[in-house]
Amino acid sequence: MSGYPERRMRRLRQTPRIRRMFEMELPGPGRFLWPVFVVEGQGLKQPIEAMPGQFRYSPDMLVEALKPVTEMGIGGILLFGAISNDRKNESGEPACDPGGIVPQTVRLVRRRFPDLVVFTDLCLCAYTSHGHCGPLDRHGNVDNDAANAALARAALAHAVAGAHGVAPSAMMDGQVVAVRGALDAAGFSGTLVMSYSTKFASAFYEPFRDAEQSAPRAGDRRGYQASPADLRQALRESLLDAEEGADILMVKPALCYLDVITHLRQRTDLPIAAYNVSGEYAMMIAAAERGWGELQRMVREALLAIARAGADIIISYWAPRWREFLGDGGGA
Ligand code: PBG
Repeated sequence: MSGYPERRMRRLRQTPRIRRMFEMELPGPGRFLWPVFVVEGQGLKQPIEAMPGQFRYSPDMLVEALKPVTEMGIGGILLFGAISNDRKNESGEPACDPGGIVPQTVRLVRRRFPDLVVFTDLCLCAYTSHGHCGPLDRHGNVDNDAANAALARAALAHAVAGAHGVAPSAMMDGQVVAVRGALDAAGFSGTLVMSYSTKFASAFYEPFRDAEQSAPRAGDRRGYQASPADLRQALRESLLDAEEGADILMVKPALCYLDVITHLRQRTDLPIAAYNVSGEYAMMIAAAERGWGELQRMVREALLAIARAGADIIISYWAPRWREFLGDGGGA
């Protein structure tokens, strides 16, 4: 009795009900964060060309968009501010403005949807004229410690506005300590820090950079984002952020890095978020548009895989369409 013909795997796969008994649950809506872009103004819902179905919303229009999202039970949002190029500067200072677009939106969303969890992205790349994630030193490298100081001030502005959590995404050394320290010193010890702890220098961010107009004018981000080819360093990055006091770790992108999520899951008991990024979103839409794949099945399989790898939270542009893709609760 060692194997075939007595052992037959197909017995366990005979009917949908039998299969279903052994399948994991699909991630529920409460495990999702929707990353969403806000711009100043009123009545604006600007399509993002490289991310069909995603928009830059003015705060009032975001409120409209959030109604069905909150009704569906989506856990929360991750807010990104976008400002016009003429308002950006060398230091990225506009990111720290307590009256800026992100704090304004946080106030409004917290008032209108008190239960929705609000995280804000903390980075300077959408606010610097050169598009890097912090001010540059005289050699043209991002000045790590100056970036941290600015991130800390931005974090405070977001916390004061009522954000449940802030998500530093600049990949600066010590960014978590800097942010945690500033929050605690100002009495915001309850504000969560979800660190983009292992963020890779990835080719899958291009559509996002279109949305945020945040592509570096010169050079790239390899000097601060992690190498896709160095697993040990990638894990150290996250474990260091855990030591620095992060409440939630993150692996980004998700789909090319499921192994990283799984390794990390074995090395820490902190919650892990996975960021299903813009390029991962756009490529599935592009394939489906060409008739090269069925969107619903591709999305479902991808989101299931991210959960199976060990992520607790999934940050995904698909979140508003959770019902359509995962709503029946069935297996793959
Ligand atoms: C900002 C930031 C980026 C993303 C999230 N925060 C872009 C980048 O590092 O260039 C990418 C998100 C996505 O592609 O969906 N530092």
